[in-house]
Amino acid sequence: MRVKKAVIPAAGLGTRFLPATKAMAKEMLPIVDKPTIQFIVEEALNSGIEDILIVTGKAKRPIEDHFDSNVELEMNLKEKGKTDLLKLVEETTDVNLHFIRQSHPKGLGDAVLQARAFVGNEPFVVMLGDDLMEDRVPLTKQLMNDFEKTHASTIAVMRVPEEDTSKYGIINPGEEVSKGLFNVKNFVEKPKPEEAPSNLAIIGRYLLTPEIFEVLAKQKPGAGGEIQLTDAIDTLNRTQRVFAHEFNGKRYDVGDKFGFMTTSIEYGLTHPEIKVKLKDYIIALGKELSNEAKPKK
Ligand code: G1P
Repeated sequence: MRVKKAVIPAAGLGTRFLPATKAMAKEMLPIVDKPTIQFIVEEALNSGIEDILIVTGKAKRPIEDHFDSNVELEMNLKEKGKTDLLKLVEETTDVNLHFIRQSHPKGLGDAVLQARAFVGNEPFVVMLGDDLMEDRVPLTKQLMNDFEKTHASTIAVMRVPEEDTSKYGIINPGEEVSKGLFNVKNFVEKPKPEEAPSNLAIIGRYLLTPEIFEVLAKQKPGAGGEIQLTDAIDTLNRTQRVFAHEFNGKRYDVGDKFGFMTTSIEYGLTHPEIKVKLKDYIIALGKELSNEAKPKK
């Protein structure tokens, strides 16, 4: 069966970006000029996904409007002959988006459970908005390619520094059935480094079989008192095989201020409009900062 549906949980409160996120969804914060959620939607579309469900909290309107047409703006740009901007604005229109609200934020597992009726009895992908991925083949498509061979749930993982295991879901890799594809033994959410079974961390892209919903419906709260998707996947793994796919591309974590800043800088350095100026600025700033760092004679 082909994977056609994606679920993007976007119901978090965005507390790491307050006050910016007091009245605005965190997913609308731009990297230079593109809201982070647009990167995720583009990855889904570039992977061949046809329908996307966004599980939102309070501030869903701006997300909905962003992927809708804006007739007034389009007419204005047309009249002024700003064809490049018009193209940019039109690129985000006509995506098959669906929305559902998660009334109480009870954790990632609960957010995914809200997608049960939308997904039905099909395999689907979950894409987390804090992780932006870059590779020749989109990571979601890589998971879909694995699924064609295994017909099993497959979770994207990446090696992280050992001291960081408590920030992630961690896998106990088990047998490597083909290069970078592990038949996972078990999954642990946010283990301390001394308890972590490896340093292979779950990185925000999941391909799941629909049986996950039966498990999620019964899932008790886990780490942090939240209903954890990782715990449900661990239970699923007892009745059907679950694989992990090691990602070799580049991951940008835009979930905290530091990652958001570094991603903005790196993306800016590839942006046609500003890359030359930004590079010159960074070089000059670097010189200034290293002079400041030198001990005074
Ligand atoms: C979530 C998942 C975790 C995963 C991480 C990836 O955690 O629960 O298993 O490793 O996303 O970004 P969160 O970052 O929401 O705390």
